[in-house]
Amino acid sequence: MSNHLLSLWDCDKQQLLSYIKRALQLKKEAREGIRHHQLAGKVIGLIFEKPSTRTRVSFESAMYGLGGQVIYLSSRDTQLARHEPLKDMARVMARYVNGIVVRTFGQQVVEELGRYSTVPVINALTDLFHPCQVLSDIMTVQEAKGEIDALKIAWVGDGNNMANTWIQAACRLGFELKLACPPGYGPDPQILAAALAEAVKPITLLQDPAEAVRDADVINCDVWASMGHEHEQEERAGIFQPYQVNAALLAQAKADTVVLHCLPAHRGEEITDDVLEGRQCRAFDQAENKMHIHKAILEKHLLAAG
Ligand code: CP
Ligand code: NVA
Repeated sequence: MSNHLLSLWDCDKQQLLSYIKRALQLKKEAREGIRHHQLAGKVIGLIFEKPSTRTRVSFESAMYGLGGQVIYLSSRDTQLARHEPLKDMARVMARYVNGIVVRTFGQQVVEELGRYSTVPVINALTDLFHPCQVLSDIMTVQEAKGEIDALKIAWVGDGNNMANTWIQAACRLGFELKLACPPGYGPDPQILAAALAEAVKPITLLQDPAEAVRDADVINCDVWASMGHEHEQEERAGIFQPYQVNAALLAQAKADTVVLHCLPAHRGEEITDDVLEGRQCRAFDQAENKMHIHKAILEKHLLAAG
């Protein structure tokens, strides 16, 4: 079995739960001041072709927190910008580092790096998926609401990389998921079809946000224009307005529904300031949990690589 984390299709239910269980333990130990050194002597390379605050800093902090070290490479810093083949980049990097964490545009980039790299490749966001983020989000749901397979999750807004990844998670972990997306902005149809073929609980694509949130334990949202789609921002703002997560939408949901946003947020667009700052929102727990999940991922994949 591959030692990469290219998407959640790489993981069965047991593996997904074990990342979360370990991250919860590492979080507890961090609170208790317990220090770790299991990745001492190991180095990861971060290849980031898109901006990042949370993912970059939490991966770096996670690696240092386990005794390891990090080399950060922005798209300006590598020969990828001058079209060095990915298969060469993968084989060269694998001679210098013990793991490669990649944020890029095409999912095919991480797949090709994975084909040629002899060290673990971890997807830190592509246009199609954001697996590490959804793992930290599910950890956050578990802290707030208990085991996820008993819960109903809603997605409101763009059928983007986060939505695709939530669909994979619903399929593998066996929870109910309702997505409300504007016509033409739904999730990737192949991913949805693959998930539906395997899912044990309903995964439903709707257009009405109120219907999606009505009995949901968790409401998820994200920006209307993801990285790479900024030029569509204005056009999307009109189309997505009815999908804003605001007090009126929350009033349609259960009183104890939890709201998630992976951040960065555009207040006044996909989420209002009062909801983001409100008692039901867990966005900053999600942000913290990224670091603990990244520790669990790095520990598992780098130690398995020997
Ligand atoms: N949530 C998330 O991935 O944030 P960054 O883009 O800041 O890494
Ligand atoms: N869907 C967003 C997530 C950012 C963390 C994007 O890809 O820009």
